[in-house]
Order: sequence, then structure tokens, then C-alpha cells
Amino acid sequence: MTGYMSKEEILKQIHALAPWYFLVELTPGIFTIPREQWATHWHTIITQDYMTRILFPLIDMLNKKSPSDTTIMDIGCNEGWLSLIFQRMGFKRIVGIDPNEANIKKAEFLKKHFGLNNVEFILGDINNFKTTDKFDIAVMFGVINHIHNPVGILQNIHSFTNDYLILDLTLFVKIILRRQKRSGLTLTYHR
Ligand SMILES: C[S@@+](CC[C@H](N)C(=O)[O-])C[C@H]1O[C@@H](n2cnc3c(N)ncnc32)[C@H](O)[C@@H]1O
Repeated sequence: MTGYMSKEEILKQIHALAPWYFLVELTPGIFTIPREQWATHWHTIITQDYMTRILFPLIDMLNKKSPSDTTIMDIGCNEGWLSLIFQRMGFKRIVGIDPNEANIKKAEFLKKHFGLNNVEFILGDINNFKTTDKFDIAVMFGVINHIHNPVGILQNIHSFTNDYLILDLTLFVKIILRRQKRSGLTLTYHR
């Protein structure tokens, strides 16, 4: 952490950028989502748990290189939580892309706050994203159901990915929604 802001300034920024989708601890005891709202953000906890249990071991299993030799693209990076974890996992270069400006502003705030020099966030749409760069791994989690032309997107991702694209069909969202229906809980914020 960079320590460039006081706790009060961090809280002010969190508030100004709210609502937040992901739960991130910015400094001990200070989270993107205030503690009193955690009960209504249970879907976030499930999502983060799902990624931790499924996605990260999968990347570890597939990738034969050291993370420090591996570049990774986070497609539909939202607020940058996955990119932040990739940085903590030691990846060489991480690029997140998302078409939602509010998401990228939050991601940029996390990047500045944690001093993530090897992470870049791009405001853009994967439908028309063009690059001459190559990424070893591309990850597209929770995104395919937002895409109208999945085949075109896959061809585009293929053009800049060296080794693997890991994507999910967001079926876990259905599980979350079933749990919601059964329990009567409401989702406060999900996009
Ligand atoms: C449900 S969130 C998933 C976020 C994160 N990847 C995760 O796994 O939790 C879907 C994200 O995909 C982004 N998205 C939607 N259409 C997109 C597109 N055409 N290109 C890139 N990102 C897109 C949305 O803005 C949103 O942040």
C-alpha cells in the first residue's frame, strides 16, 4: 500500500465511488463495502469465494510458466478485484478492460491505492478491442452473458492470446439467484 491518503480521505473516496461490487480491504478495517452492509452483499462473498476456489487453482494448474514470466488479460475487469489478486499472485503484467467508466474509475483508485505499477486498466469494449500486444492468458469471468457476438469475441481474443483463454458461462449466477429465491434475500447491487 502506498500510504498517500489518510483513513478519512480513503473513506471519502470509497463513498464518492460507491456503489462497490467487490469487497476489498484498503487499509486495516476499511473496506470498499462498509461492514454493516456485508449481510446484503452475500452474493459478492459467494462470487469471490467461487473465484478463489475455482479460478485461481485452475490458472495455477494450466500455467506451466512462473507467474513472474506470465502476462494476463482480465476481460470485463469490473472494479479490478481480479486484476488486484493477479498482481498479488505475482503476474508480470496485468491488463484489465471494461466498457463501464464507473468501474474503471474504481479500478484506477485501487491501482493507485495499492501502487500496482504492472497493472493497466483500459476503458473499452472487448468487441472492438485491438492490440498488437500478446497475452499468455486471457480470463473472461462473468462476462459471456453480456456479449451479443460470442464467436467474434472469441476470434478476437484468440488473436492476442498465446496460451489459454479461461472463461465461465456464469452459471454460478443462476445458483446465486436460486439461493436468493429460496432464502428471500435481496441483491442490493449486481451488474
Ligand atoms: C458480472 S461482471 C464480472 C466481473 C468480473 N470479471 C468477475 O468475474 O466478477 C461483468 C463485467 O463485464 C463487463 N462487460 C460487459 N460487456 C463487456 C464487453 N463487451 N467488453 C468487456 N467487458 C464487458 C461489465 O461492464 C462488467 O464489469
